[in-house]
Amino acid sequence: MAQFKLKINGRDYQTDVDPDTPLLWVLRDHLGLVGTKYGCGIAMCGACTVHVNGEATRSCVTPISTVASSKITTIEGLSENGDHPVQQAWAETDVPQCGYCQAGQIMTAAALLKRNPNPSKDEITTAMSGNICRCGTYHRIRKAVQLAATKTK
Ligand code: FES
Ligand code: FES
Repeated sequence: MAQFKLKINGRDYQTDVDPDTPLLWVLRDHLGLVGTKYGCGIAMCGACTVHVNGEATRSCVTPISTVASSKITTIEGLSENGDHPVQQAWAETDVPQCGYCQAGQIMTAAALLKRNPNPSKDEITTAMSGNICRCGTYHRIRKAVQLAATKTK
C-alpha cells in the first residue's frame, strides 16, 4: 500500500492503495466517481476513458502510481453543468441508448476536439473506433461529434 495524492476534476484527493491499482478502481471504489465505467478491463472497449493531462486514457489499465502527479478529468468534471459542447451535441442528437458506453465515448470525443477542433469524417471515425457501443449508436456518435465541432468553433 502507498499513499497517493491526486488532482481530479480540479479537486485534491488522497487515497491509500497498492501502486498497481488501476485508476478506474480508485475512481469508482475509493472516490465514488462512478460515471467512468468498467467494460472489459483490458483496454479494448473504451468505457473507462478519462483524460490524463488532456489525453484520452483507458483508466482500466493505468496504474495509479503513473498518474499521481497528473491532471485527471472524469465525466463528472468535463463541465460544471453538463454543458460541454460535446455533451450539448450528445443531448441534441439523442445519442445514448442504454448509456453504458457513453461516458467513455464523450471523453474520447472531447479529447479529439481539443486536439483537432475541425476533424474530417474519417478522422472522427478513426478517433472513435476504439470505443465500443454494444447498442450500435455509432452513426449518432459521428453526427454528434460533427455537431460538437460546430459548437467549439
Ligand atoms: S474497461 Fe477499459 S477499455 Fe474496456
Ligand atoms: S449506448 Fe448501450 S453500449 Fe453504447
